Amino acid sequence: MRITDQPGAALGVTVEDFDHTTASEADIEVLKAAVYTKKIAVLKGQDLVPEQFLALGKRLGRPETYYEPMYQHPDVPEIFVSSNVPENGRQVGVPKTGKFWHADYQFMPDPFGITLIHPQVVPERDRGTYFIDMGAAYERLSRELREEIAGTRCRHSVRKYFKIRPHDVYRPISEIIEEVETKTPPVVRPTTFTHPMTGETVLYVSEGFTVGIENQAGEPLDGELLKRLFEATGQLDDAFEHEGIHLQSFEKGDLLVWDNRSLIHRARHTTTPEPTVSHRVTVHDERGLYDGMRAA
Ligand SMILES: [Fe+2]
Repeated sequence: MRITDQPGAALGVTVEDFDHTTASEADIEVLKAAVYTKKIAVLKGQDLVPEQFLALGKRLGRPETYYEPMYQHPDVPEIFVSSNVPENGRQVGVPKTGKFWHADYQFMPDPFGITLIHPQVVPERDRGTYFIDMGAAYERLSRELREEIAGTRCRHSVRKYFKIRPHDVYRPISEIIEEVETKTPPVVRPTTFTHPMTGETVLYVSEGFTVGIENQAGEPLDGELLKRLFEATGQLDDAFEHEGIHLQSFEKGDLLVWDNRSLIHRARHTTTPEPTVSHRVTVHDERGLYDGMRAA
């Protein structure tokens, strides 16, 4: 296994000659350390069928199966499928996922630490995923803004981007919204937490899932404050030119592993839809999102 920094980028390493079937425990620890500190690892030359991809994921942690069945791979439910390519005339997985800034499972009580993506059908143009390192973003915040958010908490929900399922057809929208609120009630977390693996302070907000901010007493604060955080961290820049935004490209055979605690990400916007298929496995490592976390 050979790990090298990605040239010309603040984030990311390239990992060559990694074989999950022969890697030692020490190799796995080195790889995970690179994910936590460099945020993204691009494993080269991985041509894995779904069962092998899951086996690789299991070397890094305990898989979390996505809670909505329509995203699950028909043979390997632990794999989340993003696809706009029908198989034998049938939709598999869900098209156009994640076209908004978010951390995976940010709206859930126990978000996992590591996300793995294995692109299957790679678009010709407009390939790649946008990332923002929210540890580095916190460091860049003005002192005033940092003081303003000290001790505050944020509310996260899937409600803005919950996707209507096939069986929701003909259901009243109010009933669907109520089901979403009951099944996945909003969670409240500190606006910043200490990354348990690196000690850095992470600003845990995203435009897609963060729906409110409140003070220590639980009283809602003006939504303008959240908007200023989104603005300062680059999440409102539709041209994707903000200094905090990193575009991670990939090619067929790559497998991306990233730190889901400190990175938020967003699927690249394509004006003309191209065939795109990717498989995702998500795993819990040995620590929670942050130490002392309590689901709220
Ligand atoms: Fe995602």
